[in-house]
Amino acid sequence: MKLIISNLKMNFTLEEAKSYKEALDTLECKKNTLIICPSYPYLSYFNGKNYYLGSQNIASRKMGSLTGEVSIEQLISLGIQYAIIGHSERRIYSNEDDHLIRKKMALCFDYHVVPILCIGESLEEKEKKLEVLKKQLDTVLYDLELKEIIIAYEPVWSIGTGNTPAHDEIKSTLQWIKEYMKNNYSIECKVIYGGSVNQRNIESLNRIEEIDGYLIGGASLKIEELRKIIEILEVKK
Ligand code: PGA
Repeated sequence: MKLIISNLKMNFTLEEAKSYKEALDTLECKKNTLIICPSYPYLSYFNGKNYYLGSQNIASRKMGSLTGEVSIEQLISLGIQYAIIGHSERRIYSNEDDHLIRKKMALCFDYHVVPILCIGESLEEKEKKLEVLKKQLDTVLYDLELKEIIIAYEPVWSIGTGNTPAHDEIKSTLQWIKEYMKNNYSIECKVIYGGSVNQRNIESLNRIEEIDGYLIGGASLKIEELRKIIEILEVKK
């Protein structure tokens, strides 16, 4: 069964978030396939029966004096079971590096929150993609006691641009990530794809059997598009 992870990013006012949530409740979707990641202030509104809740980030420390941050314990108390960690927008705009991301991953494992670890190369790094992915994985995961983890392969140049890698490239990269995790970390993990996934390309992307699911930004903001994607992936109830 394919996962659909909806990253709502910094979108929606409270009123818009409420109507999105109401429309979400009308979607017919198997619960264990859909994970919704709204902005922090709206988390408590999203308590539907047909999806799980994820956060878009967590603080790098447990609790206490860290003005403007939200801790994993607070997020758990709002109902999250998943957390997006190391999204490229946080790496780029909030200067998150692999060492900080490592701390967040460790917290997720400690608190039994399933991390959705985002990795991916920039346009300039395209030629040395596997080297970049290997460094991101190793700096973040080396020597941690791993629990359940989802890895999201998201080429930075593909996010929000309408461009996706060639399908055989996605296939070989996902195969490589799965093998690498098995051989070096003795773990079989779900590997999902993210970057300009929409109702037009989902059908052909879904022919790549290595893809265990999708991290979807822009296209998940429109309920009708999300409904279409759910139908195409046949994860309807
Ligand atoms: P996009 O975003 O679907 O709008 O490209 C994906 C993401 O940022 O995870």
